[in-house]
Amino acid sequence: MSNPDVVGRVIGTEDATPLEFWVGVPDGCYLQLDDVVACERELPGGETVKIYGMVSQVRARHEGARFDSDVFLISDGLLPAEVSEAAQVTATRFEPETFVPPRPGAEVRRAHGAERDQALFFDRMTDRLPVGLSRAGEPLYVNLEFIDGRRGAHVNISGISGVATKTTYATFLLHGLFTSGVLGASAVNTKALIFNVKGEDLLHLDRPNLALDDAQRDRYRLLGLPAEPFRSVGIWAPPRLGAASAAPDVSSRTDQVTSFFWTLEEFCRDDLLPFLFADAEDDRAQYTMVVYNVMARLHRAAPIGDGGVRIEDTEVRTFRELADLITRKVQDDETRYSWAGPAIGTGTINAFVRRLQGAVRHVERLIRADVPHPERHRITLDRQVTVVDLHNLNDRAKRFVVGVTVRRAFEEKERAGQSREMLLLVLDELNKYAPREGSSPIKEILLDVAERGRSLGVILIGAQQTASEVERRIIANSSIRVVGRLDSAEAAREEYGFLPTVQRQRATIIKPGTMLVSQPELPVPMVVEFPFPAWATRASEVGPTVGAGPEDPFEGLVE
Ligand SMILES: Nc1ncnc2c1ncn2[C@@H]1O[C@H](COP(=O)(O)OP(=O)(O)OP(=O)(O)O)[C@@H](O)[C@H]1O
Ligand SMILES: [Mg+2]
Repeated sequence: MSNPDVVGRVIGTEDATPLEFWVGVPDGCYLQLDDVVACERELPGGETVKIYGMVSQVRARHEGARFDSDVFLISDGLLPAEVSEAAQVTATRFEPETFVPPRPGAEVRRAHGAERDQALFFDRMTDRLPVGLSRAGEPLYVNLEFIDGRRGAHVNISGISGVATKTTYATFLLHGLFTSGVLGASAVNTKALIFNVKGEDLLHLDRPNLALDDAQRDRYRLLGLPAEPFRSVGIWAPPRLGAASAAPDVSSRTDQVTSFFWTLEEFCRDDLLPFLFADAEDDRAQYTMVVYNVMARLHRAAPIGDGGVRIEDTEVRTFRELADLITRKVQDDETRYSWAGPAIGTGTINAFVRRLQGAVRHVERLIRADVPHPERHRITLDRQVTVVDLHNLNDRAKRFVVGVTVRRAFEEKERAGQSREMLLLVLDELNKYAPREGSSPIKEILLDVAERGRSLGVILIGAQQTASEVERRIIANSSIRVVGRLDSAEAAREEYGFLPTVQRQRATIIKPGTMLVSQPELPVPMVVEFPFPAWATRASEVGPTVGAGPEDPFEGLVE
């Protein structure tokens, strides 16, 4: 074979079909999983069909051996046999689209450069986002049109805890979107809202990662991305429990973190009460009517400054006071009818009150009017990346924060009506907010994002350990599906039907930093490796900041 790229020939002992064929690999050559190959087929009219594909399986065997023990005889030279190696290729593209199988004997070559781009449809992508490297160190891309809403939207990432690198990959995708140039001028006004659900991992996105070595920097270079942390990051954390000044409750960084909460005025005016009743337990309960009736009463509350409200002659400044007032109103015989609603039984009211009172200690630091300048504690998206920390909150408070924040961001985007500049919502543990079963106000918001967000430029980058526990319509609306390491029971589920059998098996053994990425145009998911994060993912990784800002207390000091 004169062409050095030729790696074998299509074999005739296995069926060659337009979808799949086998390639015999001669001694001295090899093909490995995910290699991209090309071959041709001449049609009777003289037209040439180019067939591209990706290696999906490789096998080696002794030809001529009949029994397992023959291997010893063959090794000792007592039995003649040949080693035969063959690779199964899954076709990715036909040019032109005449779906014929390659003929046995056809030469198959490794695809490089322009040919590889064609095999993977990269040549057709006008806006392409680098999403990782192949094992050979070549960049792999996703068509931006399937992220930004033009032809599809939303990314969904699955994988087991700790080794699937879901959270890291979500931030890596953001980094690529912001710095690769794929968004052009609209990159400046593209924003991300990230919820930090576990540990303090995402509170250091703006700081360089000490653990990043030169080999990893090279990988960023191959991807055409800068190996640097996020440039514009705003960090919001809940107020510390019991802190009158509402100091933020974080331990691994003290600077540039602002605490967030909602005022009682906003709570009443913006109808936030239902977001406190968003658990599976509430879904089963009878008191939904009471929740909405009370919400309507609270809507009439009059502001009294600094976020406080007056409700029917009572001034309220803390959530506990509000909960107690609501309790009195729904239990008192005189006000019960108008507050709880007509024909509501005592049992239902008591159940509502128990849930409401149970919420007090979890949310009183988040809904209040006892701190001056509450407007400074209102989450704003003025930085490129806004991180909202939830990790110290209990599940009920987490749902409240996610539901209310996403709703507000969604409504603001809806009002602004621009879709070219995306708002990227990064939400981990999607199963908690949009579980498959039941309904809740938060799930409704997320469904709205999944179904209408595409046209508004609100893009969900969701992650969960198991896609089978997440609302189907959210997964179904995600054009880009990503899988890290899965456990074998999960990998067998129908949610991963987009993975061919071999990739499903592979998903159970892939290492941190390797992901399977599926996009609509490409029939086989790509196996991508992404570099170690260039931003710190925990306090111990934080390196010295280049050009430390004015808040550096040592600036200007000379020894
Ligand atoms: N590109 C990479 N290569 C190798 N290791 C990585 C890479 N990216 C992240 N890691 C490491 O993998 C570990 C897990 O990453 P990450 O927190 O993203 O996983 P996760 O899937 O979100 O886990 P969990 O479900 O527990 O949140 C981290 O300790 C991180 O340092
Ligand atoms: Mg995670």
